[in-house]
Amino acid sequence: MAKTPPRIGFLCGSLRTGSINQQLSKALQKKVKQAGGKTGEINLGTYDLPLYHGDLKTPPEVRKLITRMKSFDGIIVVSPEYNGGLPPVLKNAIDWTSTVETGHIAGKVYGIAACTPGPMSGIMVMRQVQFILMRLGADLVPAQAGCGGAGKAFDAKGHLIAEPASSLADKMIGQMLSRIKSKR
Ligand SMILES: Cc1cc2nc3c(=O)[nH]c(=O)nc-3n(C[C@H](O)[C@H](O)[C@H](O)COP(=O)(O)O)c2cc1C
Repeated sequence: MAKTPPRIGFLCGSLRTGSINQQLSKALQKKVKQAGGKTGEINLGTYDLPLYHGDLKTPPEVRKLITRMKSFDGIIVVSPEYNGGLPPVLKNAIDWTSTVETGHIAGKVYGIAACTPGPMSGIMVMRQVQFILMRLGADLVPAQAGCGGAGKAFDAKGHLIAEPASSLADKMIGQMLSRIKSKR
């Protein structure tokens, strides 16, 4: 029987209208489809997660988010860089879910991408996301899709045209799809 196409979920660390990271996420989704995969979004804006602290009871939304994340064969985290690190919406989601279990991260194929208006392409936040996901046991692929100079990185149809961002994204997606297939 033919295998179903790998399903890649997109977890974006910006909820902002007009977000350049959401723009990158959409461009990467086009690339995944071109490479034969299926895509879906894990929209953190649809989960009502309070700021984590240890006195709070785990909200049911945390388990909903874990279930959604588990439904994908692989996940690409697309994150803005805030003061060289993770935006709170992303860190909060990782922290909340990690207090329940790690099955949505441990052993799952992950890729990391980031987009910045300036030239540095989010290398600092990608490194931090990599460290946190590694600690939680993610099966991370080596290529990462950092995209700087967001203002000139996309064409009118939303395709990623900047280099080396586009080639890096192709490499990362190729690594993810082949790793998912090899695990089946
Ligand atoms: C609190 C804050 C800190 C930021 N720190 C950085 C930074 O360290 N490096 C960087 O390249 N951009 C930084 N920026 C600029 C963001 O890259 C920029 O606002 C970007 O558009 C955010 O992503 P988004 O458009 O997907 O929301 C910062 C922005 C904010 C709001």
